[in-house]
Amino acid sequence: MIVGLLNGPNLNLLGTREPSIYGTATLPEIVAQLNTVAVSLGVELRDAQSNSEGDLIDQVHAWRGEVSGVVINAGAYTHTSLALRDAFTATSLPFVEVHLSNIHAREPERRHSMLASAAIGMVCGLGAEGYEYALRGLVRALRART
Ligand code: DQA
Repeated sequence: MIVGLLNGPNLNLLGTREPSIYGTATLPEIVAQLNTVAVSLGVELRDAQSNSEGDLIDQVHAWRGEVSGVVINAGAYTHTSLALRDAFTATSLPFVEVHLSNIHAREPERRHSMLASAAIGMVCGLGAEGYEYALRGLVRALRART
């Protein structure tokens, strides 16, 4: 089984970006850790990051037929992008949403996710480790479907 990891805008700056909110792990460190978890789960990980909404949508389209599901941190597009949710529903790609911070404990504009209603589930507020929980949950859900 192949699964995708998709990171949205400004997540390429993790490590130095507001570390009191997002922690000190860099995105390459998070991806490396997730690859280790993926190997232990017996799945293959593809990963991509973009600061552009259109590129994220194109990546979801490109993964149709290639990956079985996606772990996504859409960054601020979480709160605005109906188009990104449409990309998942249009491709029927199952996904788990992840956020480093607890978006429900932050500013009101971060408390709503445009993606959540189409997601298998969401992990938020658990820092970089949340990616691991999201991957484990995604793989378990995908295996339960087959
Ligand atoms: C985030 C939360 C978003 O509100 C924010 O725009 C991000 C990161 C998180 O991982 O906590 O870029 O998705």
